[in-house]
Amino acid sequence: MTQPDAHPSHLLLGTCDYPEHVPQDRPAPYARMQRELGLSFVRLAEFAWSRLEPLPGTFEWGWLDDAVEAYHAEGLRVVLCTPTPTPPAWLIRAHPEILAFDAQGRVREFGSRRHYDFASPLYREHSRRITRAIAERYGQHPAVAGWQTDNEFGCHDTSRSYGGASAGRFPEWLRAKYGTLDALNAAWGNVFWSMEYTDWEQVKPPILTVTEVNPSHVLDYNRFASDMIREFQAEQVELLRELSPGRFITHNFMIFESGFDHYDVARGLDFVTWDNYPTGMLELFAPPGTSEELKTRFARTGHPDLVGFNHDLYRGLLNGPLSGGERLGRDGAGTPNGPWVMEQQCGQVNWAPYNPMPAGGAVALWTAQAWAHGADVVSYFRWRAATMAQEVMHSGLLRHDETPDRGFEEVAALDQTQFPVGPVPARVAVLHDYESLWIYDQQRHAQSLSYWTQTVTYYMALRRLGIDVDVIHADADLSGYAVVVAPAITLVSAERAARWTDAVNAGVKLVCGPRTAFRTPGGETWSDGQFGPLSELVGARLLQYDSLRPTLPQTVSGAGDLNGTFEAHTWAESYRLNGAQALAHYQGGPLDGQAAVIRRGNVTVIGAHSDTLIGTVLEDVLGAAGVPVLPVPEGVRVSRRAGKLLVQNWNPEAVDWNGTTLPPVSFVVRPDDAGQPLEGEQDA
Ligand code: GAL
Repeated sequence: MTQPDAHPSHLLLGTCDYPEHVPQDRPAPYARMQRELGLSFVRLAEFAWSRLEPLPGTFEWGWLDDAVEAYHAEGLRVVLCTPTPTPPAWLIRAHPEILAFDAQGRVREFGSRRHYDFASPLYREHSRRITRAIAERYGQHPAVAGWQTDNEFGCHDTSRSYGGASAGRFPEWLRAKYGTLDALNAAWGNVFWSMEYTDWEQVKPPILTVTEVNPSHVLDYNRFASDMIREFQAEQVELLRELSPGRFITHNFMIFESGFDHYDVARGLDFVTWDNYPTGMLELFAPPGTSEELKTRFARTGHPDLVGFNHDLYRGLLNGPLSGGERLGRDGAGTPNGPWVMEQQCGQVNWAPYNPMPAGGAVALWTAQAWAHGADVVSYFRWRAATMAQEVMHSGLLRHDETPDRGFEEVAALDQTQFPVGPVPARVAVLHDYESLWIYDQQRHAQSLSYWTQTVTYYMALRRLGIDVDVIHADADLSGYAVVVAPAITLVSAERAARWTDAVNAGVKLVCGPRTAFRTPGGETWSDGQFGPLSELVGARLLQYDSLRPTLPQTVSGAGDLNGTFEAHTWAESYRLNGAQALAHYQGGPLDGQAAVIRRGNVTVIGAHSDTLIGTVLEDVLGAAGVPVLPVPEGVRVSRRAGKLLVQNWNPEAVDWNGTTLPPVSFVVRPDDAGQPLEGEQDA
């Protein structure tokens, strides 16, 4: 058990607590226990609107005042939230137009949470009103370190409302974007199936059509809905900046959430946080195609790479290290401002089809991994298990009866000082962008292959080679990376192509997956075919693509450094060469003899979806780029941060590796030896 010092430069811990759920005498003893456990932060009040404002305009601050004072007295720093995920019954019944509509056109009723439409002008007004009230009350309180806006935008499929206020605002948004109906009709290709509009008000949300909806319509609706979230949050941020100076503002984003453009929404925050539930993630959010075998093996820990990918994605949301003091860190300006895990699973979750008890050691392992992937703070959800309502089956650090649960014991045994904060030294970037995700998933063409499946497959291959990865936006600055991987960036504008071309000409090695640059920003295909504006750089064009049912794999055969045969599943595409060389060909089937992997200079394209092929090509490219690889066995992972190397074993059994035995579900922190190869590391 460690005590936090004043401004330590190591990982700090916290928890999410709910004083509104317990008798008023509980926060004082809870705060003392939290301090004794070594926690530094406590997050409060994200769902507490009905207790803060029980009747319109009548505020009851007493209970929260007492709680804030109790935590303050123990030296805990408070993260307060705007309680807007849960508009109270009095507000909804007076103004039902705040409610959102689902994709079946039905109202999403009061009685749980997130029952509002981001576009509702009336709800915006109430959101500003409650934000102002809580910020006026606590904005300058010495215990308040910062703010979380709302809670998990998009959770429970709430990024988009398909009726009401959103439906009303959409035509106006389109008009501002396109100016004329001719431009809209042309951009969406509405001549197809006579979908042309002659009045803005004719345009509705893209639901309930007889058959498949126009993907360009979907793409713009998603952009519109994302804009509504950005606007909604920006209004809160503006008030918080005014009324709570010097305090950070963040939001807790969600596992693989895809409903809005996170890069856009994150702008204006000081740093990003996300909510990490590794076992639920594997059960519920694992990308399509994840095998039952993998789900079983990692049922009690979650899969290291699914978790790692989310850490790396959220670390990169504000595009890498933040510059000198512009944004606020956990202790104010100029202090560590890396991402946080705002909610860290510390026992069972309650929302997946199965909710296995985490393995002994898992809570400590998750904390260590979060640190190694860039987190400056890990905050456990939740302090005490809820004794009422929807989440009684969910664990906390304390059981329902207030006795320490398993997670508590692991946190108590953790030495936080072994986790220094500092940079993650990634030389490899994986590119990501939400627009590519939306258009890819709208027309997958192979059911078990999604944007996330394809992206995470490349990420996993890199992690199996012991590589640290930054996940960054497809338009981010690529200079400084040795290798950049674009697994599924299917939407490539001329500007994006120009940026990639400059980076490649400056020496960056680029690896692209199938369907790269298949689409224009409007969602159509390039009229000169894939790779559109990248054709010259790639030195090839698309020849054929094949969607493979699971029972119909495709063989790929490589020569030279890619020597061997590989089995591709779900997707295979081939190329006509115009300057590129083929490194591997299809063998058998309709693509027999056609190019499957091609290279021109620094650019390599892999057309077949195959774990082993992807791993082999990446190892070859990393070698050529001078990035050392350290192949690790299944479930063993290495991550580097601030001069340390974290070796993790996520397997339920011990593994002998690199001359040591790694106990089941365990980690060890070692010096990184300033980039010196570990024993076993290959300078490829
Ligand atoms: C999160 C949410 C929390 C709680 C938790 C349970 O998604 O932010 O409020 O519901 O899940 O795991």
